[in-house]
Amino acid sequence: MTRRLPWVIKYRPKRIDEVVNQDKAKQALIPWIEAWASGRKPAKRAALLYGPPGVGKTSLVEAIAKEYGFQLVELNASDYRRDVDIKRIVGSAARKRPLYGRGLIILLDEIDGIAPREDAGGLRALLEVIKETENPIVMTANDPWKEQLRPLRDAVLLVEFRQLATGHIVRLLERICKAERLYCEKDALKYIAEKSMGDVRAAINDLEAVAEGYGKVTLSLVKALVRGRDKSIDLWRTLNSIYYAKYAWQAKKAVTSSEEDYETLLAWLNDNTHRKYKEPEDLYRAYDALSRASLFLARAKYRGHWSMLSYVFDLMGPGVAFARVKGQVARERFSYPERIKLMAQLRQVRETREALAGKLAERILASRATIKREVIPFLTAIFRNSQDPTVPARIALGYNMTREEVKLLAGARAEEILKAAERIRKARPGEEGEKAVREERQAKPAGLDAFLGLGSRGGIAPGKGASRPQRSTRRRGRRRGSS
Ligand SMILES: Nc1ncnc2c1ncn2[C@@H]1O[C@H](COP(=O)(O)OP(=O)(O)O)[C@@H](O)[C@H]1O
Ligand SMILES: [Mg+2]
Repeated sequence: MTRRLPWVIKYRPKRIDEVVNQDKAKQALIPWIEAWASGRKPAKRAALLYGPPGVGKTSLVEAIAKEYGFQLVELNASDYRRDVDIKRIVGSAARKRPLYGRGLIILLDEIDGIAPREDAGGLRALLEVIKETENPIVMTANDPWKEQLRPLRDAVLLVEFRQLATGHIVRLLERICKAERLYCEKDALKYIAEKSMGDVRAAINDLEAVAEGYGKVTLSLVKALVRGRDKSIDLWRTLNSIYYAKYAWQAKKAVTSSEEDYETLLAWLNDNTHRKYKEPEDLYRAYDALSRASLFLARAKYRGHWSMLSYVFDLMGPGVAFARVKGQVARERFSYPERIKLMAQLRQVRETREALAGKLAERILASRATIKREVIPFLTAIFRNSQDPTVPARIALGYNMTREEVKLLAGARAEEILKAAERIRKARPGEEGEKAVREERQAKPAGLDAFLGLGSRGGIAPGKGASRPQRSTRRRGRRRGSS
């Protein structure tokens, strides 16, 4: 089974003009590369692109190489830390003639990794290589002002990259949504862009996380899922880091650096491991680890043995990661854990009851607590048991209840009561109470549709399509919206 490409790779800029919002950097870098391309070696034979992560440094180098026909040799930090490595690897690349194309660009990505003291020799060696290189050397760094990089700074062309503006990030995200045929709300993209604080990589990752988890990107989803970049690795990243971990420390770090509490994380792992692992033996091992994690977590919490948390981390992270011995990670989507879903539903019920209690308290002049304890149970009994649905319907209208509130009280009978209430409301626009209900009892056909809603107090939210441009409804709508 193959994992599809992460979007940050899939949607990497392929041409220079696809790298947006970095015109100044391009103005500095392109003439320098053109000089190399035309055989005039510029005075400074290396360039240092610096700026925050995820703003297009690596992307621009790759795009330039492609458009100017340079072969790109990309070296990772681990290749060029020690001076002998630098002389051997970078040095030989610096003298090399390209296999194809006009030349060779040597990219030393993220040189911040070179440690000040241990690798001092490495830096010196790098400076020597820069002096003599036959090929352009491009380095990238987040922070070029570190003391250890000072000798380097004088020897290179410094090119600054800036954080991207929110608007630019939104447009990049929109392009991806379109290409993926994904339903994306503009406000949601704005939200993601703002949270990313100029880091396009983070923004694209967040977009992908929400899309992969939910198949669409709405404001409410991203508000619930996307956090500030500085705050945390989000849940999706945490889970992926666990399921796809190559090393134990990666899986463990995913757990310890997650912002979710461990119980939430455990719930997600519990409900998703069977989607990701398909081999029974892998699953057996994973759930064994999870059950132990749960045990240790309980001991840590309830007996205060906090030192046991470290077992929890090990079992949830590496324990799950290395349970997978035989199979591949399946491509199934993560799903919301049932337990957490249930809690959310309960919360909704609680909120509805709270709102209803508030509404009744105003009219009955009793405290909310009293209402919840003494009134709501009786209303519930009436709504669920009365023979005649117009009785609860009338109460609902009288107290201006919302659909949710009627549902809370009536349970399975909600629809029946709502319909009765709707009939009463339609039957006598402008009047409520006794008269309307009496007529309802006589089963007189309503039929005054033309007056739909006119003059009524708008107790029950209209069904789909029934628009009632009425003050009371609007007011209620707003109140509910703002709570
Ligand atoms: N200026 C930009 N224009 C278009 N896409 C960008 C830009 N900056 C970053 N990206 C996107 O973010 C991802 C990471 O960019 P990258 O060039 O690796 O950032 P950096 O090297 O600055 O950390 C890329 O795959 C690309 O899709
Ligand atoms: Mg980079």
